[in-house]
Amino acid sequence: MNQLSTLLDSALSQLKTITTLAELTDLETKTIGRKGEVTEILKGLKDMPEDQRKEFGQKANETKKTLEAAFTGKRTELEIVEMNKKLETETCDITEPGIKPKIGTLHPISKVQWEVENIFSQMGFSIMDGPEIESEYYNFEGLNIPSYHPARDMQDTFFINKQADEKHGNLVLRTHTSPVQVRTMQKYGAPLRIIVPGRVFRYEATDASHDTTFDQVEGLLIDKNISLAHLKGVLEEFLTRLFGKKVVVRFRPGYFPFVEPGLEVDFSCLLCEGKGCRVCKHSGWMEFMGAGMVHENVLKAGGIDPVVYQGWAFGFGLTRLVMMRYGIDDIRLLKSSDPRFLEQF
Ligand code: DAH
Repeated sequence: MNQLSTLLDSALSQLKTITTLAELTDLETKTIGRKGEVTEILKGLKDMPEDQRKEFGQKANETKKTLEAAFTGKRTELEIVEMNKKLETETCDITEPGIKPKIGTLHPISKVQWEVENIFSQMGFSIMDGPEIESEYYNFEGLNIPSYHPARDMQDTFFINKQADEKHGNLVLRTHTSPVQVRTMQKYGAPLRIIVPGRVFRYEATDASHDTTFDQVEGLLIDKNISLAHLKGVLEEFLTRLFGKKVVVRFRPGYFPFVEPGLEVDFSCLLCEGKGCRVCKHSGWMEFMGAGMVHENVLKAGGIDPVVYQGWAFGFGLTRLVMMRYGIDDIRLLKSSDPRFLEQF
């Protein structure tokens, strides 16, 4: 009994001097822990005379309860103290201005490409894709440009020292999006209405208006009873929607091996509306793209019967359209990855 009251007194007075949670836990373990002093004292219970056991047991439990309550009280007290200390050292100024999150922007090419895709989708065109590493066959032969033909030199080509396969010749970086014409004809047959936006590559010295990588959009429509009148209608509708004002298109004769007849297409100058100004070099027209009626050899390469079906194709420089749209005067800015340029869009 004495041992118990001594233990209680000593523990309570030690508790008064405790200032940290770690010290408190130590004292707790030492006194009322599983192997603590109270447990130790209770071991003597079995050697006691029967009549004293009950009283001793009760006293021991009381002692334990008193200590538990004292410890819990102290714990709460210490926790508040420690929390206050933390608050003092870890303050933050909620009036301080935050860090502005950096938000990316769409590349101007993507922006205009998506607009072009939307307009053509609404006119029933599907959007196709093709490989940037292309075979000579699809890039040239399939488009009626045999290897002996001088037209091969019209497009300076990056050659890859590897064969596509026996039938399709060596690999090249595609010089235009036109190879997707034959690929799509072979895959889906006629009728067909597609556009093909994509990157193309030319082995060229770079300057403000030439780059080795740029973007084009190919167009192809194949059906029965198709004429160039449909092409004119589709292009005027497309450009008028794209620029949000009435645009007129004109055709001039042009040469491309994969069309017959072939055309150069111009549209009325956006700035002077055809009157003539500095931007259109006083002609009233902007050169826009190549086009024409798909050559029968191309239809045949695509597995389409030229007696039953005919169609037209066009190809324009998406990059050039973007430059006109935003008044960008150096093509090299577009692939420069310079945030000072990109953040403006
Ligand atoms: N592929 C041609 C080039 O890159 C552009 C072109 C001209 C595409 C006439 C066509 C076309 O589909 O009919 O210069």
